[in-house]
Amino acid sequence: MSKKCLAVANWKMNHGIAESIKFISDFSRQQIDEQTEVVICPPFTSLYTMSVALGDDTAIKLGAQDCHQEISGAYTGEVSAEFIKEISCDYVILGHSERREYFKEDNELLLKKVHRALDAGLNVVFCVGEKEAEREAGTTFEVIQKQLEGSLRDLSQEQVSDIVIAYEPIWAIGTGKTATPELAQEVHAFIRKWVSEQYGTTYGLDMRILYGGSVKPANIADLMAQQDIDGALVGGASLKPEDFYEIVSRCK
Ligand code: PGA
Repeated sequence: MSKKCLAVANWKMNHGIAESIKFISDFSRQQIDEQTEVVICPPFTSLYTMSVALGDDTAIKLGAQDCHQEISGAYTGEVSAEFIKEISCDYVILGHSERREYFKEDNELLLKKVHRALDAGLNVVFCVGEKEAEREAGTTFEVIQKQLEGSLRDLSQEQVSDIVIAYEPIWAIGTGKTATPELAQEVHAFIRKWVSEQYGTTYGLDMRILYGGSVKPANIADLMAQQDIDGALVGGASLKPEDFYEIVSRCK
């Protein structure tokens, strides 16, 4: 398969401009394998400065951590997908469990955001994942299917190519409790099957499905060894250039 592995750094609300610039000056000294795509998602305030600092001749791409569902208007404090695209950003993360939980983003709202982001020309990293209680109740697949159906329906095949799905079991985010590679693989295979059924086998096979939730240099290789894991969405371990580079270099 010719698809590139993808390593996405989700800095969340960490690193101001000075720290962001320091990170990329250290990180960009490293050689990135041609088969690996790297995306860094800093806070909004660092995005423009980072895109200028990286310039055009870089293998490092940038992403935002959210966008609004409208193009523009009276939405105090919000940022539109068009503005994100304007500053040479290629990606946006949508549906992260922290946004679902703390900002009450539901599948319907996320459907609108996904369409707005795609219309603006952004690639979307769309997050899905179950809570610990849902896993214990045996409803993991049901929950994931609802999230997929709720927000990734009615896409054209061209739009599907601009989507990446990240499976992030909520109980594994920031907890140090990574899903076992086998458990993650089981859900990844389920997601790929869903994409194939909705949009055709080619799109199912080409879809990049990332694992997220306590990914670290020590566990990335075992996760990547699974057939349906195509990369990682990394929170805590992406904040230090040396750790993130170790993950990136094993992300193949
Ligand atoms: P974590 O976060 O790697 O710190 O668990 C992952 C994420 O929330 O995307």
